[in-house]
Amino acid sequence: VSAPSGVRAPRAEGSPRTAGPQSLDELETPAAVVDPRLVAANARRAAEYARAHDLAWRPHTKSHKSRAVGRIQLEGGARGLTVATPREAEVMADVTDDVLLAYPPVGESKVARAVRVAGDVRLTVALDSEAALEALAAAAARQGVTVGVLVEMDVGMRRVGVQSAEEVRALAGRARALDGVEYRGVAFYPGHIRVHQDEQEQPLAELSARIGRLLDVLGSADLAPAVVSGGSTPTFWRSHEVVGVTEVRAGTLIFNDREQVAMGAADWADCAYSVLATVVSTAVAGQAVVDAGSKALSKEGRGAGGTFGALLDRPEVTVSGLSEEHGILDLSATSWRPTVGERVRIVPNHVCVSANLQDALWAWDGDHLERWEQEARGRGPWLPAPAR
Ligand SMILES: Cc1ncc(COP(=O)(O)O)c(C=O)c1O
Repeated sequence: VSAPSGVRAPRAEGSPRTAGPQSLDELETPAAVVDPRLVAANARRAAEYARAHDLAWRPHTKSHKSRAVGRIQLEGGARGLTVATPREAEVMADVTDDVLLAYPPVGESKVARAVRVAGDVRLTVALDSEAALEALAAAAARQGVTVGVLVEMDVGMRRVGVQSAEEVRALAGRARALDGVEYRGVAFYPGHIRVHQDEQEQPLAELSARIGRLLDVLGSADLAPAVVSGGSTPTFWRSHEVVGVTEVRAGTLIFNDREQVAMGAADWADCAYSVLATVVSTAVAGQAVVDAGSKALSKEGRGAGGTFGALLDRPEVTVSGLSEEHGILDLSATSWRPTVGERVRIVPNHVCVSANLQDALWAWDGDHLERWEQEARGRGPWLPAPAR
């Protein structure tokens, strides 16, 4: 019987693959490019600031999902790493022995994976419910491991976190009483503070008062926290203004992006990540179209005036529109007129989401090109274990 037309037999295993690119020019676009010198400098600067204020920097690795970047953060002075998903926890446990899962593991599979990680490294989990706490404690006790617990309090973002110091006290007391878990402290995320760092005085003072009161309530119940985990990139350089904080989890600052520059948390020259793209059309006057669309840049537009990115070398040129595989460059603020085939590098609004859309990160120091895998991308327990 002949095969139906249009159907092709599967390729034999081991068919030749394209050799890896050696330089930026050889990369097929769109591709994520990072400058390893800036990545290392951003890590060092963050760790230095933290050290100067007696804080531990425990960066959130959701921004890069890559062991290579995790290692640079640790070499730069990070103390442990933060993760959000079981996959991130499993992968980052290969590069550090101290992992914070800053996300409640809910559901049997996620709890089992967290407990397995706790068998390998010191694991701490931030959570905000008795349901999450008890399931975690029971699974950990069954496996004969101990998982650290931070009780999460909402400080204004209205996402996760119990709503009062008294609720923190109750959950912390419960954690102390259960086998399988160890009460280690409290966590909060000041994600509601998204104004320029020069305008953060009042929200940070309010936050500090709130944390101060929390510490009083816990102290008088003999539940003084060993760890007070907070921090974000927009507030990073003012973290020391919040009373009692012991560690900060800022992650975005490893690469920075348009949004962080707008909030004064970074300079444009600190942006270590961009999406390399090729101009594919100049047919419509006043614009150029590149091959980086929403599937490379992401469609996040927070506070960026309806635009989705800007050129690294010409920040006045913005991405004014996106389809899945098309990005529209607005040429109204420049006399530059790109030609088809010309390449550009685009800094996205929110780097963490863009990085998660990539096959890999390409580290380019101006001389050498290296592929950095993002082993922590993806979710399910059925994903193959990443190669070491
Ligand atoms: C719980 C938690 N901690 C830390 C971070 C890192 O903050 P940033 O992205 O501002 O660096 C995030 C970011 O979303 C977060 O959700």
